[in-house]
Parts: sequence; structure tokens; C-alpha cells
Amino acid sequence: MNDIAVIGTSYVGLTTGVAFADMGNRVVCVDVDEGKIARLKAGKLPIHEPGLHEVVMRSVSAGRLSFSTSYEEGLKRAEFVFIAVGTPDDGTGGADLSQVRAAAQSVAEHMHRPIVVVNKSTVPIGTGDVVTRIINEHRRTSVEFSVVSNPEFLREGSALLDCLQPDRVVLGGPREAAERVAQLYRPLGCPVIITDIRTAEMIKYASNAFLATRISFINEIAAVCERLDADVKEVARGMGLDQRIGPHFLNAGLGFGGSCFPKDVRALMRMATDAGQHPQLLQAVMDINADRRRWVVERLRERLGDLAGKKIALLGVAFKPDTDDVRDAPALTIIRLLRDAGAHVTSYDPEAGEQARRDMPDIDLQPDPYTAVTGADAVVLVTEWKEFRFLDLDRLRRAMSGTTFIDGRNVYDPAEMRSAGFDYLGVARGAGADDSMAGEEIYLDTAVTRSDPV
Ligand code: UGA
Repeated sequence: MNDIAVIGTSYVGLTTGVAFADMGNRVVCVDVDEGKIARLKAGKLPIHEPGLHEVVMRSVSAGRLSFSTSYEEGLKRAEFVFIAVGTPDDGTGGADLSQVRAAAQSVAEHMHRPIVVVNKSTVPIGTGDVVTRIINEHRRTSVEFSVVSNPEFLREGSALLDCLQPDRVVLGGPREAAERVAQLYRPLGCPVIITDIRTAEMIKYASNAFLATRISFINEIAAVCERLDADVKEVARGMGLDQRIGPHFLNAGLGFGGSCFPKDVRALMRMATDAGQHPQLLQAVMDINADRRRWVVERLRERLGDLAGKKIALLGVAFKPDTDDVRDAPALTIIRLLRDAGAHVTSYDPEAGEQARRDMPDIDLQPDPYTAVTGADAVVLVTEWKEFRFLDLDRLRRAMSGTTFIDGRNVYDPAEMRSAGFDYLGVARGAGADDSMAGEEIYLDTAVTRSDPV
């Protein structure tokens, strides 16, 4: 059992702390937000994340997990301290490091024993050196410490699972310290890469930028498919079966949102520019992504004409399913664009209503999908929540005043939607798209194998 302190109790911090506690360590999660810590102590989590609540409760009652606003308490026994605080956009495309700096200083002021400081926050390349300098400046005693970079790759909506079953663990820093951190991850039995600190920091940005690039790539292919009448869903499937390509992150739709991809691509572009390198591919990735939001408005105009006075209902506001997060959510941009065009927009989301109202106080949120679409000229599916797959289509269509249905995530079978009476439009599904035979893989007689000469 190791003693661990985790600074920050949002997605990364809370999930990391809970995961280490579940692996048998003693963990104190520290946050300067008193309200958040009080709520956590009362068993109320600040985020909606499947499975997390149960494991928090289990670890707290086993005495392996506790919460505190005090660095003194958090660092009393800690051999490892994980910094997992926010690094939001600083307004110029760069990452705002003020929370990381403040955490590093507080750690320095409360260190009593040799400690490994592990940075989990997504930070610009070179931040490891900044953290080292801050701790050197502020530590009271000559307590030894090392700084290790350990970027996190968990996704919202599957945070705990991703944390407990990672594809890899990346560690950057002095070998001995990195190896000690590697031991913490041993129970997970996954590959561990040990490298230098700047490379580890870059692996995080490069990974997120690559995934964002895949999404913008398939969205660009979708835009071409749309003009040439091909089905992008089948194109992605056909591509994904090539093992060099793989099937993930090839869902065409309304583009990426959330607190990570947009911010991290922008921050990487900023780092590249500052270093004298023009980030031309990354610029295209962001431009294509912005176009996806406009695509909805263009398609609605084609169908409904002038949008002034029209009623449009959005299904889904969260940036993706299984989260209540609305940061950089396509829905909020689409609502703004539609309102600018004079439309009235209603919306429904199973979890994200409260968060959405914080960002957009006058958002018209309805308690269920059927109320949201009542009297609507058109419906747009923005977030592919599972419950939207099981809607009573007949009831939905009857509640609307029009028949236009834009499926921004290609959730529905076009043929089924058309026979239910909708003027249905998916993302580049092609005129003949019919999911009843979609993705059919026919396995031919194996008389001819790959190794046989053709
Ligand atoms: C992303 C990465 O996937 C994580 O590995 C990383 O740790 C995290 O950012 C982070 O840096 O903290 P997350 O933002 O939670 O995770 O969500 P994703 O599941 O990656 O989805 C991001 C966005 O891409 C969503 O808006 C989603 O709708 C969109 N997306 C995803 C697509 O439009 N198409 C796809 O095929 C996949």
C-alpha cells in the first residue's frame, strides 16, 4: 500500500484518486474548492460518470479514500502527489497554467518527506521544468523530490473504466522516480513507456490532436460523400477493417467538442507557432470542425427556407453521451447559429440541462424529447444518447408540426425513418442508404487463404 495525494477533484483527479484507492492504496484527494470537498464528503460527486459513485463509496468506507481542502493533511504521509488540476484555454489559444503553478507552490510549502510529484494535467511542453523550478523556490526544507509527467488518456463517460484498463501508461522524468510510479500501475498489467519529461508531455497533445484529425478527416470525406452520393458510414466501416487504419474515431457527424480536443489542438497550434512551425494540418482540423456546426443550419435552410420564426428542437446538448459536460458542445454553437437566423430552439438532454443553463441561462430546455419536439418544424439529433435510439418514432412525428429530421450522429436507419414519415437526413448517408444490409460482411469459402498466391 502506498500513500498518495491527488490535487484536483474533477474528471482526471477524482477518477485517478478513486482508481488508486481501489487498487489498495491510501489516497487523499485535495481540492481548494470547499463546497466541492464538502459535497464529496457527503457522497455527492461533482461529475456524472458511470460507475464512479459506487467505487467512491466502497473506497471511502474501506478507509482508503478521503477528501480534504488541506494540503497539510493531504501531504502528511504522501510519497506520491499527483497534480490533476485544470489547464483551461487562456483566451489566446494557450493553456492557462495558473492552477498548476498554484498547486506546485502549495505542494512545495507542505512537503515533509521525499516525494515524487506526478503531473497528470495536460500541460504545454516544458511545464515539468516550470513545476521543478517552483518547488525548488518554495520548499521550506531540503526535502528531496522528483517531477514525473504522467499524462492521462481517460475519456469522459468511461473515465473509471479507461483509468483501470488503459492501453498504456506514459511516464516521463528521472528513471528511478518514473519506475517507482510505474510500480503503482503494476496491478493494471498494461504496457508502460518511460521516456523524458518533454516527450511524455508531447505524447498527450499528439494523441489528442491525432484523434481530432481522424474525426475531421472523416468529416471531410463525409462532405465529399454528400456531394457524390456515397454513404460515409459504410466508407468508414470499409476503411476501419484495414488493420492499419482501425475502426475508432471515424464517426462522421457534427464534429468534436468537449474540454479536451478543441483546447488541446489549439494549444498545440500555439506551441508550434511560438516555436516557428506553421501548424497547417491542425488549422484545417479546427476549420473542418467549425464547418460541421454550420452544416446543420445550411441543411435546415435547404429544407425549411428562411429560418426566421421556425421552431427547431435539438435532441442532446452534452458534447457526447454519458456525460453532463457541455464545454465546447456542438449543441450550444448550433443553438446560437439558429437563434441568429431567427429560429426558436427548444432542447432536451437526459443529464446536461443544468450545466447547459449555466452557460446559456435563457436556453429553452424541455423535460422530455416529446415535449421538446411539440410543434417543431424540424428536429436535430445532436448527441447520440442511448435513449434516443429507442424513441417512439410515431409519437415523435405526430408531436411535430413538420417532418424534417436531421440525424447529426447517424444513429438511425434511413429507410426506417423515411417509412416512419420523416423527411430524414443523416450525415452523408447517400440516397440509397439502408441499414438493414449495412456493414454486412460476407465470409467467402476459405479455400483461398491470404498466403496462397493469387
Ligand atoms: C478525449 C480523448 O479521447 C481522451 O483519450 C483524453 O484523455 C481526453 O480527451 C482528455 O484529453 O482529457 P473526451 O474529450 O472525453 O476524451 O471524449 P471523446 O470520446 O474522445 O470524444 C471527443 C469528441 O469527439 C466528442 O465530441 C465526440 O462526439 C467526438 N467524436 C468522437 C466524433 O465526432 N467522432 C468520433 O468518431 C469520435
